[in-house]
Amino acid sequence: MKLNIAVLPGDGIGPEIVEQAKKVLDAVFAKKGHEAIYTEALVGATAIDKTGNPYPDETHELCMKSDAVLFGAIGDPKYDNDPKAKVRPEQGLLAMRKKLGLYANIRPVATFPSLLHKSPLRADLVEGADFVAIRELTGGIYFGRPQGRSEDGQTAYDTSVYTTEEIERITRLAFDFAMKRRKKLTVVDKANVLATSRLWRETVQSIAPDYPEVEVEYMFVDNAAMQLIQWPKRFDVMVTENMFGDILTDEASVITGSLGLLPSASIGLHTSVFEPIHGSYPQAAGKNIANPLATILSGALMLESAFELKEEAQMIRKAVDASLEQGKVTEDLDKENAISTSEVGDWIAEYIKNM
Ligand code: IPM
Ligand code: MN
Repeated sequence: MKLNIAVLPGDGIGPEIVEQAKKVLDAVFAKKGHEAIYTEALVGATAIDKTGNPYPDETHELCMKSDAVLFGAIGDPKYDNDPKAKVRPEQGLLAMRKKLGLYANIRPVATFPSLLHKSPLRADLVEGADFVAIRELTGGIYFGRPQGRSEDGQTAYDTSVYTTEEIERITRLAFDFAMKRRKKLTVVDKANVLATSRLWRETVQSIAPDYPEVEVEYMFVDNAAMQLIQWPKRFDVMVTENMFGDILTDEASVITGSLGLLPSASIGLHTSVFEPIHGSYPQAAGKNIANPLATILSGALMLESAFELKEEAQMIRKAVDASLEQGKVTEDLDKENAISTSEVGDWIAEYIKNM
């Protein structure tokens, strides 16, 4: 199979971790006789520095014609500390989401048996936790208009907007995920306060009869935040709007013990983007110490969901499990015996070669 992959390394540790993911993908492709064409493009602060635009047109055109996009990370502290900055790296990410129609962000959260002791929660609470959070990514308060400031500058406003159509497409996707899993769907909202949440409930209720096997429950977001920590095993598939999903998926990510392990997929109308859920970790940039596993696992997710290469994806997951079991890990997981970012990549690629 010939795979056209756009590669957007971005900022901070992005380039280092993306390199490891490519290394691992190449090991799989060599073994299975696939051919990948990687084309790199600029995004984020790196793109602002070179072009003034965090998501240049050239990058967009490349993504549009690629089968999938492998994404590193964006963000640079020089913008975080300057609230008046006119262009910000994050605008690049939001523009990419909107222009590629990346309406669903999928974050699978599952514990690794060898890392249970790393979780801030008790091992008995997290052991066997396995759920998928599905976050709507192109609507809600992130994109609703009007947004801005009054003329005198003393009032600011954001607007949350959802259409039935937007809710419907993500709800169907969530039901499809539930059908392939344990057939339980938790819809997270704030329907006791928000009009958009009430439209979500109404819409989900109108679709639910099409999936009679799926058990649907509705949960207010504050309660969901609590239950995620109290009893993570109760969840199977969770679906929610953009900002609630942003917050809950960060919360969910710590359940497994390391932010450096979790991949994500953003499913789009034109193409899909695969990226680690962590940020650009600028303190570690260029030091060869960052954990590349989330990006490597995003590569596995890409093979599975963009190319339907399930066996190949499993090869990567198996190799990652082996690296964890044998302690071939970066310093976030083992300070004393850590190996470097590139050594983890090499070890996993080698393991695949010998499979
Ligand atoms: C994420 C990030 C982004 C978001 C930021 C960087 C705009 O936190 O991908 O979750 O809020 O969506
Ligand atoms: Mn976030």
